[in-house]
Amino acid sequence: MFQSQAIASGDKRMFFEELGRQAGGLLAGEADPVANAANLAALLFHQMPDLNWAGFYFLQGDTLVLGPFQGLPACIRIANGRGVCGTAVSQRRAILVPDVHAFAGHIACDAASRAELVVPLLHQQTVLGVIDLDSPTPGRFDSRDQAGLEALAALYLDASGATAARWLAGTTS
Ligand code: SME
Repeated sequence: MFQSQAIASGDKRMFFEELGRQAGGLLAGEADPVANAANLAALLFHQMPDLNWAGFYFLQGDTLVLGPFQGLPACIRIANGRGVCGTAVSQRRAILVPDVHAFAGHIACDAASRAELVVPLLHQQTVLGVIDLDSPTPGRFDSRDQAGLEALAALYLDASGATAARWLAGTTS
């Protein structure tokens, strides 16, 4: 039975090393893309300090559709290229937004959100979706958070990327 231990968050590099170990334990031996996304969203939300939302969107056709998450109910569909999430998809790279009020086109799901970090899920050149983190604190995320979240996205893709790609190939928006 997996047990999540609280992680000291003083040193971000060590924090993400330990978070990666815990994520590896959660994902071991399981490929289901929804189950693994649900557990990763819960791990991120409960381990990372100062978040108000953590979750997944999956790219169905040309639309991001809400996946497993923790936090307040959120927008269900986001068109490719729209908002921070859709920008991460269209540009195929992580988008780090220190202050969402200064990001033209930001989609506000929770008015408390002030900083956002979105990492695309790239499986063999195909974007499968994104992992999205929100914080109520402007400037909450930096390049170490981005590197840490990209490493977790890679763990997710190792476990579920092939299964998710087959699932999403059969969907349309
Ligand atoms: N703010 C995101 C929308 C998703 S919510 O933050 C959960 C965006 O601009 O794409």
